[in-house]
Amino acid sequence: MTRISNAPGSVPIREAVSVLKRGGLVAFPTETVYGLGADASNPAAVARIYKIKGRPESHPIIVHIGDTGQLARWAREVPEGARKLAARFWPGPLTLVLKRAPGVGDELTGGEDTIGLRMPNHPVALELLRQFGGGIAAPSANKFGRISPTTAEHVRNDLGDEVDLILDGGPCEIGIESTIVDLSRDRPVLLRPGRIGAGDIAATLDATPEPRDRSAPRAPGTLESHYAPRHPLRLIPSGEWDETLRAASLSRAVLCFRARPVGKRYAIWIRASTDPQHCARDLYSNLRTLDASGCDEILVEEPPTSTEWAAVRDRLLRARSA
Ligand code: TXA
Ligand code: MG
Repeated sequence: MTRISNAPGSVPIREAVSVLKRGGLVAFPTETVYGLGADASNPAAVARIYKIKGRPESHPIIVHIGDTGQLARWAREVPEGARKLAARFWPGPLTLVLKRAPGVGDELTGGEDTIGLRMPNHPVALELLRQFGGGIAAPSANKFGRISPTTAEHVRNDLGDEVDLILDGGPCEIGIESTIVDLSRDRPVLLRPGRIGAGDIAATLDATPEPRDRSAPRAPGTLESHYAPRHPLRLIPSGEWDETLRAASLSRAVLCFRARPVGKRYAIWIRASTDPQHCARDLYSNLRTLDASGCDEILVEEPPTSTEWAAVRDRLLRARSA
């Protein structure tokens, strides 16, 4: 039976450490989304992550570390750019993809020659990493292809009894997954946008990261369809909003930047924040609420195309059905 422990408190974290040490799985909060953690040095424990998530084995998993001193344990080369980004943004919502160290297992890398590393910025995650001492392999704690969890309750709804322990650290502050930068090639590549934008990376590296290309490793966060609700989701350009709504039936669930019009009924109407960071923080929770509203279809108003909306746009483009 899965237990949810209210963290922080030294007892739940000690218990979580012993679960990890005996090869079990612990869901834990980070500042981005909840992770499904296993001892990164234990291939059998990592294999359980794939099984529970229903995730194809070719997809690599991020190893979470508690201090930059552990970089060399997992990466055989730590280029200058990686040191700069880690110094500037860790602990924080940034994952670095580096060439893997000898002995780093295929189960973590999906057979690629690289490893994804991140030091999360959450008191519970950092204390767990400190007490555990090693790396914790953790994808988002949701079933493969579904919406990432931003509360302990989301994790329990998705994974229930399949996890040994869920540490409850409250709702995640950032709400969307970390920015991923690949530094294993000649030039930095932005594999996944997040709170830390391409501009922040460029300012630290003195080089603009390239957009992801087709030779990038297969990664679920980079598949066209991901973060999907169960009901079809349509992304509507602002200019087509009124017209689309006029044609809408009673069973639409709506997420948009406008007030609910009087006189018409919807399964649910959620007014999104016009602040991109607040909108991101609430995005997955809102998508779950829309999905559970009893609607036939979810209508979402497209966010602006400016750079501060890049991460939210990226997630919505992948969440839509067509
Ligand atoms: O914010 C986050 O990054 C959260 C929290 C729990 O840390 N984790 C997360 O993990 O989003 P996951 O597995 O749901 O997404 C990680 C993404 C995947 O698209 C994965 O393929 C990619 O990172 N990734 C991991 N290691 C990689 C590598 N060596 N090369 C390329 N992509 C990698
Ligand atoms: Mg994920």
